[in-house]
Amino acid sequence: MSAVVPNPTDRLGRPFADLRISVTDRCNFRCTYCMPREAFGASYRFLPRSEILTFEEIERVAGIFARLGARKLRLTGGEPLLRHDLPGLVRRLATATRLDLALTTNGSLLAEQAAALAGAGLGRVSVSLDSLDDEVFRRMNDVRFPVARVLAGIRAAEEAGLAPIKLNAVIRRGLNEDAIVPLVERFRGTGHVVRFIEYMDVGATNRWRLDDVVPAREILERLRARFELEPLDPGYRGEVARRWRLADGSGEIGIIASVTAPFCGDCTRARLSADGHLYTCLFAAAGYDLRAPLRAGADDAELEALVRSLWAGREDRYSELRAGIGGRPARIEMSYIGG
Ligand code: GTP
Ligand code: 5AD
Ligand code: SF4
Ligand code: SF4
Repeated sequence: MSAVVPNPTDRLGRPFADLRISVTDRCNFRCTYCMPREAFGASYRFLPRSEILTFEEIERVAGIFARLGARKLRLTGGEPLLRHDLPGLVRRLATATRLDLALTTNGSLLAEQAAALAGAGLGRVSVSLDSLDDEVFRRMNDVRFPVARVLAGIRAAEEAGLAPIKLNAVIRRGLNEDAIVPLVERFRGTGHVVRFIEYMDVGATNRWRLDDVVPAREILERLRARFELEPLDPGYRGEVARRWRLADGSGEIGIIASVTAPFCGDCTRARLSADGHLYTCLFAAAGYDLRAPLRAGADDAELEALVRSLWAGREDRYSELRAGIGGRPARIEMSYIGG
């Protein structure tokens, strides 16, 4: 009988638990807080196809992380549904790993693909939805994409049985604070969870300023002015959102306060970019190239040992250090690493 090897633990005592896999760095939106069009215009060079991991390669890497004790795989982008035949990848991963499989999407293509994704074995979906007001939504995605099509995508996901759905809204000062209460009104009673995210200083292009952040405290005040809320315990160790239930039992909300209440102490996530680099922090400047050994013919045991040693050496905790870091160091873009 082979010995059970525990999940690797990093230098700060954090076990590895989840893998987020970005399947493309492209997106059909240009959210001003993520891919501002001045930086991601016609001349922006996205990854060429030859540099992007194939489905076979993703399946292999996912298998290695499954052996390291991953309990969840989340597919991200850019916009993951732009990747050709994403249901085909989901089917492979569902068959090969049997892990909790989730997807984070902007919802624009969900109406067309929800049924196929669920049929392929996807378990859950998180949809970004910054406002229900069509004009505000169009301004935030900056490609004039109508909110009605995302709402149709959410309905299709429900019908396909992907519920409960998490709806993520990034709240940005002066743009969509007024979306907070209507989002909760709209989704109470559906079983879906609306989560509000503090605007973060990810990447190097969104011209983040602390003044543009609407702190969790203020989001909560707005909610408390309208709803009676009761705090809930985390759903699992390392959950990024703090949770509350509506006292009348009609729903649950979450707040992801990575600026004003960082959660690095419990951060158990690894991130794989579309070109096969491993990042141990959303705010990292560089990743570790796993594609090179993969394409050079390394076997599973070698790759597993490599990832174990990378995790063991990890000491990232950017959000906890943010206040003490002057300026804005070079770092990867959110659209490349998938949030
Ligand atoms: P579940 O708990 O399985 O639903 O997944 P999740 O909440 O990890 O996934 P989701 O993609 O919905 O995450 C929501 C958002 O939280 C992300 O888009 C990020 O904005 C933020 N976030 C997630 N993980 C981290 C993290 O490790 N660090 C920071 N700073 N923000 C994170
Ligand atoms: N701050 C906070 N959240 C962000 N996202 C993208 N950019 C930022 C940012 N600067 C979120 C999106 C989506 C997920 C993929 O990442 O809203 O929910
Ligand atoms: Fe917006 Fe998500 Fe696309 Fe970024 S990756 S531009 S947050 S839809
Ligand atoms: Fe994890 Fe880095 Fe986010 Fe901290 S800042 S929670 S270490 S990804």
